[in-house]
Amino acid sequence: MTQYRIPFNKPSFAGNENRYIVEAIERGHISGDGHFTKRCHELLQRELGVPKVLLTTSCTHALEMCGLLLDLGPGDEVVVPSFAFVTTVNAFALRGATPVFADVRADTLNLDERRLEELVTPRTKAIVALHYAGVGCEMDAIGELAARRGIAVVEDNAHGLFGRYKGRFLGTFGALATQSFHETKNFSCGEGGALVVNDERHVERAEIVREKGTDRSRFLRGLVHKYEWVGLGSSYLPSDLLAAFLLAQLESRAEIQSRRRAIWERYERELAGWAARRGVALPKVPAHCEQPWHIFHLLMPSTAERDAFLRHLEQRGILAVFHYQPLHLSPMGRRFGGKPGACPVTEDVAARLVRLPLYNRLTEAEQGEVIDAVAGFGAS
Ligand SMILES: Cc1ncc(COP(=O)(O)O)c(C=O)c1O
Repeated sequence: MTQYRIPFNKPSFAGNENRYIVEAIERGHISGDGHFTKRCHELLQRELGVPKVLLTTSCTHALEMCGLLLDLGPGDEVVVPSFAFVTTVNAFALRGATPVFADVRADTLNLDERRLEELVTPRTKAIVALHYAGVGCEMDAIGELAARRGIAVVEDNAHGLFGRYKGRFLGTFGALATQSFHETKNFSCGEGGALVVNDERHVERAEIVREKGTDRSRFLRGLVHKYEWVGLGSSYLPSDLLAAFLLAQLESRAEIQSRRRAIWERYERELAGWAARRGVALPKVPAHCEQPWHIFHLLMPSTAERDAFLRHLEQRGILAVFHYQPLHLSPMGRRFGGKPGACPVTEDVAARLVRLPLYNRLTEAEQGEVIDAVAGFGAS
């Protein structure tokens, strides 16, 4: 494997991770739902102002919980953007539901709400709104359509913790929303996620689904004398060791976000001239969206230039990467009827997009190197 001087991502310590992990061990509880898990739940519920947050083993698992909670099955349709992560759709296909692939907007790369109505049928049970790079989807329009047609909205907010749409936190709009704490995210515990339950009708069952289909959470609260198998579920709760690591990161959210913001804004400031000269598009963040500084991406003029650009950076020891491949054209997507030309914007942007290194401990000198290398592309 190539060793990069500047990788795409590096995990960072926020400060208290070691101390909290040791404390979890000393407390004698390192399985799920211990002291640190509760503190993460409380912090996220308080900050987001939501009725229930449940840490999960990944965002993927939180999405799978959504499929179970919405009782999706064969014959049901779920509208998902084609420009999305595999598990954004796999979680629902796993329940036997049929994905219906939606195209994205050319500016934010989010689900194109203007084309949504034509994809909705009487069988549509859910619309998945993925906030790409943590820039909000047009939630007013999506929410209005979903309410009018009686469809649940699930927000895949893997990128967008603490981002806002019209002043309101992402992850608080859908009946359910999911978060990721994977190593590449702003706040991480290696592998981890969360389910945000906004519709209180799902709270009790969400606990059951997460606890292997049992009412163990009610038992631990002293509400039942023994716990039993009461529904479908699986083991979606992470070890308290991971929650200890995560709490340290969440508590440092102001420092983490301000560092990422500085990196993001410097890329934008120092690459604007080069981008304009080379016909490269920088990320677009509508004025009514506050982003969480998760991804800095470029849209190169063509796939050939994108590939040459990635090689150019690689030769300089810098790893930049592309992102999602159109889901409707994947081998599984084609089994659900995906065809070339069905989501033209997705097909176009997926072939031209590049993400630059952006992680909490990218130093100013390293970022300077990345900017010089980028600006050196096509300079001669
Ligand atoms: C939009 C989106 N959803 C879900 C996931 C899956 O997250 P996890 O690795 O926590 O399962 C990712 C992964 O990066 C993602 O980008």
